[in-house]
Amino acid sequence: METILSSKEIKTICKELADKLYDKFKSSKTIPVFICVLKGANPFFIDLTRAYKGPLIYDYMQLSSYSGTSTTGVIHLSKDLTENIKGKDVVIVEDVVDTGLTLSYVKEYIKIKYMPKSITVVCLIDKKALRRVDFEPDYSGFVIRENKFLMGYGLDYKEIGRNFDFVFVPDKKTVEEWEEMLKNNK
Ligand code: IMP
Ligand code: MG
Repeated sequence: METILSSKEIKTICKELADKLYDKFKSSKTIPVFICVLKGANPFFIDLTRAYKGPLIYDYMQLSSYSGTSTTGVIHLSKDLTENIKGKDVVIVEDVVDTGLTLSYVKEYIKIKYMPKSITVVCLIDKKALRRVDFEPDYSGFVIRENKFLMGYGLDYKEIGRNFDFVFVPDKKTVEEWEEMLKNNK
């Protein structure tokens, strides 16, 4: 198995991104609302917001576009926001930008429906290989140019493996073992 980001590297990335975001919002008169895009962004959201030096508000949104190891291209919104974000600075926190479809949809949806003061998009990993729409995150922790299926630290293989504290490319043997376990797990 190939490690893409170690736990230590992730910690450094979170601190750097949190400081950049803090610099951006420290003189704002309103409190920024950080939105976690479930489920994948969950660990990154927690570590990033804990490294942030000022007050902020949490909110959550859930979408899906993936089936197994590839994107379906159809985005389904299963959980919407609960905070009032109109006129606020909003930070969308995502694990990975891949085709860019999810984040361009989320950004447009939030902009039109809630009219926040600003929208900033931050992602842990920017996967450049399969981009389908012209979308760039405002901040990203790590850029990967090859098309690799990543796992760990929120990223899943058929819903498993989000709990690992590092990001990696699973090897064939590991995937086969998991497939066996998934069969028994039905
Ligand atoms: P996009 O809409 O294609 O940009 O995909 C974004 C979503 O797909 C991310 O939020 C992830 O949840 C998921 N995703 C993209 N690449 C990977 C990967 O390599 N492993 C696991 N999930 C991924
Ligand atoms: Mg995600």
